[in-house]
Amino acid sequence: MPTIDALSGLYPWTKALHLIAVIAWMAALLYLPRLFVYHSQVPVQSQRSEMLKVMERRLASAIMNPAMIAVWVLGICLVLTPGVIDWHAGWWHTKLLMVVLLTGAHHVLTANLKRFARDERPKSERYWRVMNEVPTVLMIIIVVMVIARPF
Ligand code: HEM
Repeated sequence: MPTIDALSGLYPWTKALHLIAVIAWMAALLYLPRLFVYHSQVPVQSQRSEMLKVMERRLASAIMNPAMIAVWVLGICLVLTPGVIDWHAGWWHTKLLMVVLLTGAHHVLTANLKRFARDERPKSERYWRVMNEVPTVLMIIIVVMVIARPF
């Protein structure tokens, strides 16, 4: 994998910004399914339903989408920094797989946001309660992989 020498001096800053973006992304990924739990409980076209639509849309456009892009761009900058990634390490491949799954969860949430906006009730309240735990589990695995590097 080719690397970019100019990124070496920026490494601590790239990593700090990567983690700031991760925190913002996670906050949105944890909050949006919680809003969907509430949204499933309120009648279609009620005032509360309209308010939840605004909250969901703003959360996605102001935080969730920009944060995901920032995490990916800064993560790729870290990958391109000389000496950062050992391509034979198991922890790295596990992290990458979990990050792809997290991005998949992001897209499932975005697709359902559009369905809620059309006054559909795509899934049950219970589904969103379970979906609420998915980013948590993936985040725990990712943090254990990058910090403890068990394999
Ligand atoms: C989206 C794609 C992502 C890529 C390409 C990526 C890539 C990287 C790279 C290359 C590093 C530097 C590792 C080192 O300094 O040895 C790093 C650090 C880190 N990443 Fe990511 N990352 C991504 C997403 C995430 C996500 C979603 C999380 C958490 C939920 C996360 C958590 C961390 C943490 C905690 C560190 C610091 C580890 C340390 O101190 O060495 N990353 N990331």
